[in-house]
Amino acid sequence: MMRNDDNPITLDLFADEPPTTSGQIERIGQQAFVLRGFALPWLERLLPALETVLQAAPFRQMVTPGGFTMSVALSSCGALGWTTDRSGYRYTAHDPQTGRPWPDMPALFRELAQAAARAAHFEHFEPDACLINRYVPGARMSLHQDKNERSLSAPIVSMSLGLPAMFQFGGFERSDKTLRVPLFHGDIVVWGGVDRLRYHGVLPLKDGRHPRFGAQRINMTFRTAG
Ligand code: SIN
Ligand code: FE2
Repeated sequence: MMRNDDNPITLDLFADEPPTTSGQIERIGQQAFVLRGFALPWLERLLPALETVLQAAPFRQMVTPGGFTMSVALSSCGALGWTTDRSGYRYTAHDPQTGRPWPDMPALFRELAQAAARAAHFEHFEPDACLINRYVPGARMSLHQDKNERSLSAPIVSMSLGLPAMFQFGGFERSDKTLRVPLFHGDIVVWGGVDRLRYHGVLPLKDGRHPRFGAQRINMTFRTAG
């Protein structure tokens, strides 16, 4: 299921192939794993909690320090949430849009993130931030490193819901070759340790309709930020 940038033809042939591999674990780095379908058994309980979070902290499109409006809409829950504006990127305890603290991280989110971390050999994961990204067709996330977190010793746990996307997992320089990993509804990617600072991104979301989520992909990343 993994392919690299040298292979654009197979990319198009297989990008929308549904996962037949639920329960499978794919290693994409020394300490980086794709857990296929890991979130699926949790979803019936998880989605109502996600709705409650999004009512308290709705999706919004943020502006980067460079002045670009991100194509991905964001929200957060947990003690800390991630924001960006013209003055920079940061974690904050309050949602700048509502002036209130970010919604609490539902206990179930934390349990799922910890279970996924354990499956990827990271014990004692204590997430205090959950970033929620919404992609509509055409939305993308350019290659970046996750390095706003105070400590880099905890992994990133990243869950995909809705439409499939092509995740890029690169090296430690932006220009390094990237692995392309198709991510489907219910998949979780975990990277940490020696792989914690790898560049990663998401190619523009293709058109489509997911039976549950319609024309969108939701990504949730769990982090220890503070
Ligand atoms: C991110 O890097 O924050 C998002 C990754 C994803 O949407 O899969
Ligand atoms: Fe990221």
